Amino acid sequence: LIAFFQPKTLAGRRVLLTAGPTSEVIDPVRVLTNRSSGRMGYALARAAAEAGADVTLVSGPVALPCPDGVERIAVRNAADMRAAVMARAGQADLFIAVAAVADWGIANPSSTKLKKQPDGQPPHLDFVQNPDILAEVAALPGGPWCVGFAAETGHLAEHAQAKRARKGIPAIVGNLAQDAMDAEDTELVIFDDTGHHPLARQSKLQAARQLVGWIAARLPR
Ligand code: CTP
Ligand code: CA
Repeated sequence: LIAFFQPKTLAGRRVLLTAGPTSEVIDPVRVLTNRSSGRMGYALARAAAEAGADVTLVSGPVALPCPDGVERIAVRNAADMRAAVMARAGQADLFIAVAAVADWGIANPSSTKLKKQPDGQPPHLDFVQNPDILAEVAALPGGPWCVGFAAETGHLAEHAQAKRARKGIPAIVGNLAQDAMDAEDTELVIFDDTGHHPLARQSKLQAARQLVGWIAARLPR
């Protein structure tokens, strides 16, 4: 019922989001992944749909139902997330990157299960840096307005603003990593070229609705 009364600030706008972790294959039974429940990204997808947007959610593996009125594309690794995003980014007005993308994939995944060695020797894994999906979308000519997320363990403002500049995006939402993981409530700070805008500690859905309102007021027509 509350959702019904949300102001339709994103009516007619196309919103693309990423959420959840990515999962990088080591062998047929093992993966490398990030800690992310997907709840913040799913709350934002829901809030954007409530605000009248046409919402597509590219999601890594999570244990959450797809929000009402949202189209979900399920992916596993960063390469597939990038492909799903890049195929749709050109048509989007707004891109919100909430996914905890694994920074490295495994360069030499094994097609058979790695076995423990009798001498206790651990396996040798080669890492390869994954593409920066948000930076790629931000660099698209005529691409969508981009919002990133930054979970940091300290020096939030410095790290978030440096990240915003590096990726060339108008806004980034920061929180402290120890605060974000598995928590029901969240305390977010929005950083843009005018400085920082702290939001109250509140549920992820309430924070998502506030964030959508903040973004909608700045989204170019
Ligand atoms: N992101 C992305 N693709 C990646 C890595 C990150 O789209 N390969 C996005 C995330 O979804 C988030 C933002 O970039 O919106 C910041 O992610 P973060 O991991 O904090 O930044 P990194 O650039 O990976 O820097 P680092 O992990 O070294 O702090
Ligand atoms: Ca990262």
